[in-house]
Amino acid sequence: MRKVLVIGGTGAQGVPVVKALATGSEYAVRVITRNTQSKEAQTLAHLPRVTVFQGNPYDELTLRQALMGIDCVFVNTNGFAIGEKAEIYWGIRLYELAREFRLQHFIYAGLEYGSKLGGFDPKYRCGHLDGKGKVIDYLSAQPTSPMAWSALTSCMYIEALAEFLRPFPHPDDPSTFVFAAPLGAGKCPLIFLEDYGAYARWMLDNPAQSNGLNLHVATEDIGWEELATVFSEVTGQKAIYHDLGLDEYFQRGVLDPDAKVGHSTDPNDSTLQTYRENFTGFWNTWKDELSHRDYALLDRILPGRVKTVKQWMELTGYSGKPAPVLKDYRDRAQ
Ligand SMILES: NC(=O)c1ccc[n+]([C@@H]2O[C@H](COP(=O)([O-])OP(=O)(O)OC[C@H]3O[C@@H](n4cnc5c(N)ncnc54)[C@H](OP(=O)(O)O)[C@@H]3O)[C@@H](O)[C@H]2O)c1
Repeated sequence: MRKVLVIGGTGAQGVPVVKALATGSEYAVRVITRNTQSKEAQTLAHLPRVTVFQGNPYDELTLRQALMGIDCVFVNTNGFAIGEKAEIYWGIRLYELAREFRLQHFIYAGLEYGSKLGGFDPKYRCGHLDGKGKVIDYLSAQPTSPMAWSALTSCMYIEALAEFLRPFPHPDDPSTFVFAAPLGAGKCPLIFLEDYGAYARWMLDNPAQSNGLNLHVATEDIGWEELATVFSEVTGQKAIYHDLGLDEYFQRGVLDPDAKVGHSTDPNDSTLQTYRENFTGFWNTWKDELSHRDYALLDRILPGRVKTVKQWMELTGYSGKPAPVLKDYRDRAQ
């Protein structure tokens, strides 16, 4: 049985990874968390062969203790908590520690390097995407032996359609749902988190195929016009797409545009972007369709994957009602 350390395991992205690894008896999982008593940590601790380990993952001594006896590591650093600069540092440092501890496999939860894909045009600069993208570039320069490495590059969670991306009632006709986003006619990828967990598991199960691979995963690339149409087909509710300008998007107050991205770091750090800066680059990256996924490859890896947003809506009984997704949002609302 291989022992896997999961960083970020209590989060929206980490939980399905831990659950996928806890299925069968091939893996024992150690989840590092700042609070082993949280609801999320306790739920995981009740899964077979899953233990929770108290500590801050952005601390070298804690990581050294957590890495004892570990064979593989899944790393999802939290750029929204620590900011881009620290995210780059810890991604690289974790790779180095994994090598020092002679691990077999390092799996990095990545995101698209929007700036690079957009030729470093500043309109695409988004720290929470770019930081992870830079770490993947670093990983790509590393050998695939003696330790395997893989990057699992994702995108917005499909579950965010009930939170960050949820539709709102039309002000003049409350029976109509409005899906509003600054996307123009762009198609944007969304990933079903349960499938995300299955891809992480596949990487560990199949190192011969996943070693040295940057796998870009999504359920489907979908335009918001189509999203509204599909929602109507599934729920019978009227829905429209409202293409927002970025100024209108930030005025709507979903995010505090002037707050710094990096809630657990020094807000005076001049390298930190504001939410306005960060999410301008974010939405421009998707609107201009800078990134691509190989869906034929994803079908081969996970033949039973959820293949469309419509299928996901039907499977989960999606109704457009709000439902919490991110642990950070829940924690900060308390
Ligand atoms: N939202 C999306 O659609 C999306 C999509 C792809 C990638 N991502 C990326 O995923 C990362 C966030 O993970 P998530 O989506 O799973 O978020 P989440 O549900 O909000 O979970 C946050 C995770 O980060 C840990 N954490 C929070 N604040 C921390 C701090 N100050 N110090 C140390 N650990 C802290 C939490 O662990 P504790 O148990 O210690 O609280 C928890 O595991 C971000 O880098 C984001 O860019 C997000």
